[in-house]
Amino acid sequence: LSAPLTYTAAHGPRAALLLELGSGLTLICFIGMVIALGLLLLSVLRHRHRPALREGELAPRSAAGVRWVAIGTAASTVVLFAMAGWTMVTMRDLARTPSAASLTLEVTGHQWWWEVRYLDDDPARIFTTAEEIHIPTDRLVRVRLIGNDVIHSFWVPQLAGKTDIIPGQRNEAWLQADTPGTYRGQCTEYCGRQHANMAFFVIAEDPAEFEGWRARQRQPAAAPADPALARGRDLFVARCGTCHTVRGSGAGGILGPDLSHLMSRRTLAAGTLPNQPGFLAGWIADPQHFKPDNRMPRPRLTGPELEAIRTWLQTLE
Ligand code: CUA
Repeated sequence: LSAPLTYTAAHGPRAALLLELGSGLTLICFIGMVIALGLLLLSVLRHRHRPALREGELAPRSAAGVRWVAIGTAASTVVLFAMAGWTMVTMRDLARTPSAASLTLEVTGHQWWWEVRYLDDDPARIFTTAEEIHIPTDRLVRVRLIGNDVIHSFWVPQLAGKTDIIPGQRNEAWLQADTPGTYRGQCTEYCGRQHANMAFFVIAEDPAEFEGWRARQRQPAAAPADPALARGRDLFVARCGTCHTVRGSGAGGILGPDLSHLMSRRTLAAGTLPNQPGFLAGWIADPQHFKPDNRMPRPRLTGPELEAIRTWLQTLE
């Protein structure tokens, strides 16, 4: 997975504001430390020949010394207030709600995966996917954050700051990417044993490419091309369809991720495993081994049943 979770690079205006503030404050602190340590060193060097104090004796007080303490206190007070002011201005800018978004998504944080719904004025064009959020570059995207179980937090450091997902509360995040790329996101509020395995990816692509992806995602899953695949689909509907949806197959469960276009994603189980045939088979066979306590029970399939389901799932491009 070549998308590191890093906040030392900004690829969108909101992340740029935060990066500016973060690196600015760090630099100010560093300069302050150098000055303070420099003055301390200077004082030690200047007074190194002074005889040691006897017990109970106080160091002589000089007018110059008192002046230095006053200057230092005043200077650091001014700098601290300036830092607080800069932080508040940035917070105000980030809190400003932009008036128009070109796209609105509904992202639900679940223990421990992400549900992503692409809203549309036309209800027939709404669709649901999971774990990967595709967005067009240079467009403002509104993300409505929905919680159903515990508190999670939505964070894509290269694109925007963190926003908590709180059950019963409507929070919004805003994403905008200047450059195409894959940006790693992560849940950043401890939400249970698999909190660390609650990753997602934002894939920013140019608008034409994004529209192509969206048109493919709206389609129902491809119909099985032969009887073996049809058997895999029927097994899936019977054994996995209570929890998972594959549009067009008859499986319509809503407890787990929508798998209609599973093969368009790069990872399984919210960034836990790469989406490759061996891992897919292993995950279906024993999800508790790879992600203990996750909500997917072991389905107890025979070898041929597992193989039939995996083979069919792999046709869901
Ligand atoms: Cu969800 Cu941590």
